[in-house]
Amino acid sequence: MYSRIAGTGHYVPERILTNAELEKIVDTTDEWIRSRSGIEQRHIAADDQTTASLAIEAAKRAIEAAGITPGDIDFLVVGTTTPDLVFPNVGTIVQEALGIHGCAAFSVEAACSGFIYALSIADKFVTSGESKNALVIGAETLSRITDWTDRSTCVLFGDGAGAVVLQPSTEQGIISTHLHADGQYKDLLYAPAGVSKRPQGDLNKEFAIHMQGNEAFKLAVKTLGAVVKETLEANSLDHDALDWLVPHQANKRIIEATAKRLGMPMEKVILTVAKYGNTSAASVPMALDVAVRDGRIKRGDLLLAEAFGGGFTWGSALIRF
Ligand code: UT7
Repeated sequence: MYSRIAGTGHYVPERILTNAELEKIVDTTDEWIRSRSGIEQRHIAADDQTTASLAIEAAKRAIEAAGITPGDIDFLVVGTTTPDLVFPNVGTIVQEALGIHGCAAFSVEAACSGFIYALSIADKFVTSGESKNALVIGAETLSRITDWTDRSTCVLFGDGAGAVVLQPSTEQGIISTHLHADGQYKDLLYAPAGVSKRPQGDLNKEFAIHMQGNEAFKLAVKTLGAVVKETLEANSLDHDALDWLVPHQANKRIIEATAKRLGMPMEKVILTVAKYGNTSAASVPMALDVAVRDGRIKRGDLLLAEAFGGGFTWGSALIRF
């Protein structure tokens, strides 16, 4: 028994923030942002939008693509680092908005790897027979934890959501998932204020993302290289068996390094970082849906999805679409 992706969806808020606009806010240039990260623009949630409201739109699209109704969903998990509230969790807010009642609904906090973690959990519920229609979402409003005076981070992040529906299948679907974390790197990428750990001083800065970009970059390249190798070896596959790499979209140069490690030409890599920036847990399901809807990813294609983020956490999924 496998779990198989029956439908995908994504949603981004209307407002686009361009590099040219950022040039007016902080000491940066369009040229620096493009050449160092590959980012050209990002979408920013409206004041009345939250992580859950983006997640709801992505979920509706995935449910429609799967050819089911919200009432069919019997398991709901959201990967997010930017929940609407301390509680109830984003999963229950999405559940209520979609008119679903009674099934398990929760969120998973694993920074940019949140969707891969959520997918791995949902896969276990579907393959064990406990869920027939699992809704798996990655959603973020990173703009709410961005310090708009810090040029080293504010040019990188964006808001958005992506979702998939998983169903049981006798045909291959999620073939394997590989999850990892190592808390020794927690100081390289973090948002210092929390709930149990009370904010001190300037609230805007305390809640904001802090990153030692260059160190995070080097570890991302090394770690993602190792996890894609692990995934191929675990399945006795050569890299040329893969049709597509669906990477976390933190930085075009990190993605290029992973593709090079896999010996994959960039034509086989789904890139959305230019339009959407880094949307953390939302980036993998957003990239997947973009490529499914534009016809690049087709039924039967073999995909390798991977992500790396604060913690550090990282992981991958080998997927027969
Ligand atoms: O999603 C989770 C995982 N995220 C990541 O893995 C992100 C990893 N890091 C990165 O993507 C890259 O490290 C960045 C895009 C953040 C930075 O690129 P970099 O090539 O590593 O640059 P750097 O941090 O080494 O900075 C180079 C220079 C510095 O100036 P000096 O010290 O050389 O004079 C920075 O102060 O660029 C400067 N700088 C900027 N200049 C213009 C930093 N931010 C900016 C900016 N505009 N926005």
